Amino acid sequence: MTHKRIQLISFRELVPEIKDTGYLTHSIFYYPAKFIPHVVRYALKSFTKEDDWVVDPFAGSGTVGVEAYLCKRNAFLLDLNPLLNYMIPLKVRTEKERLSEESLSQTLDNLESSEDCYTPAWSNIAYWYPPEMLEAVSRYWGFIKNSDRTIYTSIIESALLKASKHFSYAEHRTPKLFRSKSKLKYVEELLQTDWSEKLGKMIRSRSLETLRNLNDFAAVTNQHQNRVEFEGGVDSSYYPLQRDLDALITSPPYLQAQEYMRTVKMELFWLGYNDEQIRGLSRLEIPYRKADRIVQTPSLDKVRAELTRQDLLQLLDSYFCHTINALENAMNQLKPNARACIFIGNPLIDGIKVEIWRILMEYFVGNGYFFENLYEDRIKNRQLFGTRKNKNPDGMKSEFLLVLRKG
Ligand SMILES: C[S@@+](CC[C@H](N)C(=O)[O-])C[C@H]1O[C@@H](n2cnc3c(N)ncnc32)[C@H](O)[C@@H]1O
Repeated sequence: MTHKRIQLISFRELVPEIKDTGYLTHSIFYYPAKFIPHVVRYALKSFTKEDDWVVDPFAGSGTVGVEAYLCKRNAFLLDLNPLLNYMIPLKVRTEKERLSEESLSQTLDNLESSEDCYTPAWSNIAYWYPPEMLEAVSRYWGFIKNSDRTIYTSIIESALLKASKHFSYAEHRTPKLFRSKSKLKYVEELLQTDWSEKLGKMIRSRSLETLRNLNDFAAVTNQHQNRVEFEGGVDSSYYPLQRDLDALITSPPYLQAQEYMRTVKMELFWLGYNDEQIRGLSRLEIPYRKADRIVQTPSLDKVRAELTRQDLLQLLDSYFCHTINALENAMNQLKPNARACIFIGNPLIDGIKVEIWRILMEYFVGNGYFFENLYEDRIKNRQLFGTRKNKNPDGMKSEFLLVLRKG
């Protein structure tokens, strides 16, 4: 019965008005496994109306928030990753006044002449920076930490987050945090040049680019009065969502490829988090925590029966327990007939295909939801964790948008 409803489509073709995935403020921050905005736009236009409230319990970089605001919807965003709290005020700026390039330039001048210094509480920091670069980057952060927060300092902070990784031993061409031989060589060569001028220029040019993105965003949303609320650094499984919601649009973590907290560790340290706080967040990350119940559905039980490795069985149980807990926690707040739109691939685990959409569908149909539609998009469009050895080389040829309706 379910197969009749699979529609092979291309979200890029269904939403031709979006020409570039990084348009307006979407590309200010790099984030692994971002939604393409087309999927979100399609779900918003198909299943919600103006001023509706949409929830995303795995909001990541806030694609749902940007698209919701652009489409005159309200959004509530949650994610374990605290970076959400830094991204949304820039990506979804609701103030309408035009930002001034002169004011930004003035703030950048102050940044350059500042003598303040900030060093993160990171025991391992010397591993990641040559001393002279650490000193330079610390000085820039010192200014950010010691000046009053304005939109201009927030813009500069976003540029500084990128520059702090670029001017370090950490590989900056992929989101994952690691040192590579080629990066060590790159830094060695950089140190022979006028690198500190390059660092300053990078911060300036990135800040200016972001300011222009924000102005473009403000220009197209000039008449929009909606709200985008957010809470980063929280576990969506148990977060109390005390409000009625008109739709859920989300893309849950991947089964094996994620490690968001480890990926953004450097950024979090600069923003002021310490080892213990980051470890605490990592412990809550799906699927690296113990399952507190065993989800059972026919398709999931089939995978379980085939899987022999204990560690992978544990991971599978953890994944479905906590992913479903978080989805259910948000979906409990949906109004009757509201849709839950879940975008997900079919990964392989030890060579066994896991049809996540089907397992979620079976679970939720058994718990008061109707299976409404399944869209299959064959375009390989999400960048995972770059150089990480892909554990599922054949597992992600399609991605699926599962649409459920609340009974
Ligand atoms: C596939 S990403 C979402 C990306 C997002 N759709 C976007 O466009 O940026 C999945 C997200 O799940 C988050 N996550 C993992 N465990 C979580 C938990 N227990 N509670 C809330 N979020 C969690 C990760 O931090 C990550 O941002």
